[in-house]
Amino acid sequence: LFSAGYGLEFFLMLCGLELQLSWSCPRHCVCYTSPTTVSCQAHNFLTVPEGIPPHSERIFLQNNRIGMLLRGHFSPHTVTLWIYSNNITFIDPDTFQGFTQLEELDLGDNKYLRALAAETFHGLSKLHALHLYRCGLSSLPDGIFQGLHSLQYLYLQDNRIESLQDNLFVDLVNLSHLFLHGNKLWSLHQNTFRGLSNLDRLLLHQNQLQWVHRWAFHDLKKLTTLYLFNNSLTQLSGECLAQLPSLEYLRLNGNPWECSCKSHSLWDWLQRFRGSSSSVLCESPSEVRGKDLKQLSKDEFPNCSGSESLHQIKTSTWTTADKSSFKEDQHSVIPPPADKMRTGRVGSQRPHGSRNCTRQRARGPKKGPNEVHPMEEMADKEYSPMEFPGEDKFDHTAEPPRRKSKCTRRPPVRPPSGVQQATNAGSVPHSTFSLVSRIVALWVVLAVIMR
Ligand SMILES: *[C@@H]1O[C@H](CO)[C@@H](O)[C@H](O)[C@H]1NC(C)=O
Ligand SMILES: *[C@@H]1O[C@H](CO)[C@@H](O)[C@H](O)[C@H]1NC(C)=O
Ligand SMILES: *[C@@H]1O[C@H](CO)[C@@H](O)[C@H](O)[C@H]1NC(C)=O
Ligand SMILES: *[C@@H]1O[C@H](CO)[C@@H](O)[C@H](O)[C@H]1NC(C)=O
Ligand SMILES: *[C@@H]1O[C@H](CO)[C@@H](O)[C@H](O)[C@H]1NC(C)=O
Repeated sequence: LFSAGYGLEFFLMLCGLELQLSWSCPRHCVCYTSPTTVSCQAHNFLTVPEGIPPHSERIFLQNNRIGMLLRGHFSPHTVTLWIYSNNITFIDPDTFQGFTQLEELDLGDNKYLRALAAETFHGLSKLHALHLYRCGLSSLPDGIFQGLHSLQYLYLQDNRIESLQDNLFVDLVNLSHLFLHGNKLWSLHQNTFRGLSNLDRLLLHQNQLQWVHRWAFHDLKKLTTLYLFNNSLTQLSGECLAQLPSLEYLRLNGNPWECSCKSHSLWDWLQRFRGSSSSVLCESPSEVRGKDLKQLSKDEFPNCSGSESLHQIKTSTWTTADKSSFKEDQHSVIPPPADKMRTGRVGSQRPHGSRNCTRQRARGPKKGPNEVHPMEEMADKEYSPMEFPGEDKFDHTAEPPRRKSKCTRRPPVRPPSGVQQATNAGSVPHSTFSLVSRIVALWVVLAVIMR
């Protein structure tokens, strides 16, 4: 009973429907509803596939060979985007512009990425996990984490980062995990970690740290876990650690500790520390070589004045007096080793620091940190779940299969409901619906026309 006009309208409507349905899943991908998910993993894609439905909330593109990310590849409705283990060499700074819904972005394991523009993540106000591990990054531009107030997990491990400029993380008020292990950091400055008042875990192991500013940890009042093992520290003042009132787990092994008077304040702090700490094996002087600093008796520091002892140190408050004394100090201090002053940004950020937490180490052939290393310490290299009680609140079993990386801990992100069933015949993906509905639509159209 369609008039000619109605018939045409109906036809056009069907065409629209048809078009909509044919968009519903890119070739070689599997799509699901609630939440709308496009899964295109492990398909040797060289570019982001065409036809990702504009309202997709979850997009999985991991384990392909995608080389570039450009503006328009994804829609601003995206909530979760995984593109880890691809071959990304370039990310257009506008790729994620206006992505106010984005919560998790995994760009990890794109070894040739090497550089990011400062604006890349601007405006991602809901982002709570950002994965940039193993991306060949040697530096991070100023302001790259600007405005990421919701960020809780930041994974920067296994890059080649040599220095972190002051205030880089200052907007990350909600950050809980900061992973920086496996980089080339050699110093931590007064304002490197400024603003991280909710930080819970700071992993700095497997770097080349030899210099830590005495106030480097001054904002980290909630830090429970600090890993500094396998660095090049010869000393660390107790004053540094006294700024961490919530500290529970400390790993200092694998450093060439110098157990002279210089370590007296660390020794003193360790005597009081109630949390769990690794061994702190002395490398020098020769009388105590191989001994654990924690086990040394007071008599083994016979000629130390005790002036550096914690009793005199007031650290937990950042008083005006402290600030002004810091300013005065700036004139009386020995700058870090000249060979580290090299290249532009790194050099210009060097504080002409105040009293150091760590004194510079004599340059010279590096003694392997492994030399005085008991076997049990090696376990520290692995970031095993055992080390973090309470980790089990993350439901790992619910996650879709991901890479087997021992150093990446996933934040508690619920997997899309459909992904687990990807291999089950029971679940009917969109593409099938699409085909069926196309046939039905065509049939209806023909029926209308035939009338
Ligand atoms: C990755 O990208 C580089 C540069 O574009 C290219 O030379 C290389 O062949 C790519 N590797 C793979 C596995 O696609
Ligand atoms: C930090 O996170 C909480 C809860 O996720 C949120 O309510 C708060 O707004 C965040 N802080 C800022 C400064 O955005
Ligand atoms: C301590 O100082 C005394 C004299 O000042 C000196 O004889 C002694 O060798 C010193 N002991 C150590 C362990 O340096
Ligand atoms: C700071 O480090 C320098 C260089 O090693 C050292 O000579 C100096 O005594 C240190 N100052 C303090 C207060 O530890
Ligand atoms: C320290 O790190 C280096 C390189 O990152 C590694 O080869 C070495 O085995 C590590 N040593 C320990 C004790 O973890």
